[in-house]
Amino acid sequence: MACVKKRVAVLISGRGSNLAALLRAARRPDYPAEIVLVISNNPDASGLKIAGAAGVTTAVIDHRPYRKDRAAHEAAVGAALDAAKVDLICLAGYMRLFTPAIVLKYKGRILNVHPSLLPAFPGLDTHARALAAGVKLHGCTVHMVTDRVDDGPILAQAAVPVLPGDTETVLADRVLVQEHAIYARALALFASGEAGTPPDAAASLANPLPPAPPAA
Ligand code: GRF
Repeated sequence: MACVKKRVAVLISGRGSNLAALLRAARRPDYPAEIVLVISNNPDASGLKIAGAAGVTTAVIDHRPYRKDRAAHEAAVGAALDAAKVDLICLAGYMRLFTPAIVLKYKGRILNVHPSLLPAFPGLDTHARALAAGVKLHGCTVHMVTDRVDDGPILAQAAVPVLPGDTETVLADRVLVQEHAIYARALALFASGEAGTPPDAAASLANPLPPAPPAA
């Protein structure tokens, strides 16, 4: 039976490798979400080309003309989301903080991927901070977005080892592979309703990931 797919907007600011991973996953006929819109606040984001190549509608909503008026920029973002009738929002390297207004409007429907094992290392420069702290395990988290930075119920995490001689770049690349895997799986669980209200054991993903369900 064909599933009713959730309509998803992905918000980016740059490279778009997580966007690419979500688009790849969403090509499966049985994937419970479709990406209907990609919004970037950065006109030069290379992720826009990835979206275009996949035939997904894009919108550039540059924050700079709005100067310090975050609410007005966000209203424009909100209007684009409304026009596309999205059910869920995935932040994927979106370098803007949402105001409480939009978080409230889309309460429980915004996901983010963060390059650390939250609650460790919220914020920026997570890989450098993990190396400086000497942690032996690092990783990534998919979580629901609240009006606090890198906060909110955790849907999925994957851990990677920190190895002798790791540089920030090497560690970031190792984590990024896992981001792509857990974001696609977490969105699938969430969109199909299997993630439920966290904490929910069914929604926790480990590394190595459990096997993906067979293709339809
Ligand atoms: C990812 O590491 C993500 O976790 C962080 O920013 C990076 C974005 O990478 N928030 P990409 O644009 O998805 O390639």
